[in-house]
Amino acid sequence: MNQRKLSGIEVCVFDAYGTLFDVSSVARGAQDALGKNWQAFSDLWRSKQLQYTWLRGLAGHHADFWQVTGEALDFALATMKIERPGLRDRLMNLYLGIDAYPEVATTLRTLKAAGIRTAILSNGSPAMLDAAVANAGLRDLLDAVLSVEAVGVFKPHPAVYGLVRRHFALSEEKVCFLSSNGWDAFSAKAFGFHVLWCNRFGQAAERIPAMPDGEILDLSELPAWLGDAPAHG
Ligand code: LAC
Repeated sequence: MNQRKLSGIEVCVFDAYGTLFDVSSVARGAQDALGKNWQAFSDLWRSKQLQYTWLRGLAGHHADFWQVTGEALDFALATMKIERPGLRDRLMNLYLGIDAYPEVATTLRTLKAAGIRTAILSNGSPAMLDAAVANAGLRDLLDAVLSVEAVGVFKPHPAVYGLVRRHFALSEEKVCFLSSNGWDAFSAKAFGFHVLWCNRFGQAAERIPAMPDGEILDLSELPAWLGDAPAHG
């Protein structure tokens, strides 16, 4: 991971949850009800949510991310023995208004000014993604919001990454994919994109195909990697 530039990138494609949006902000918003263990609760909810996407994919039992997120929430509430009237609905509602990380809007604006197109590619259902994008004021900064619902299977199924070519009609080497989820970044690299792993949480490298082109701490580092961006846009 010592190369500091990617060339020929025309589109930057972002994972949503964890990369543009701060998953912890959901439980943080209900700290008063969750108490001091809100972060542990948040981590359990998130890891169960992801496990369920993979399990449903392997078993061929697809359900959309809204349902999976709710079922993972039920598991987390039951595990931590939290029973409070209205809390489930409150947390699901908070998910729709999830916070964007502070550098996201500025980074997208910089990319657009450089003639780079931008998109989300996410497990999220179209309605969840629409709500999050609108709430964070990112609508005008994104050329496309692509949901796995178009193919009915979750990441890292190759059909999901294939949605980018289907939408933009360009080959994978012209795409820079960004995810803070290591497994997503590695799988997107194995699929054929250029990939920067936005390693916000300082996680160890995954042991799955394939190593991303580089690692950044947050998205503000992205524009500097795209040295020779196209001037059109
Ligand atoms: C997404 C999940 C991986 O947004 O966070 O696709």
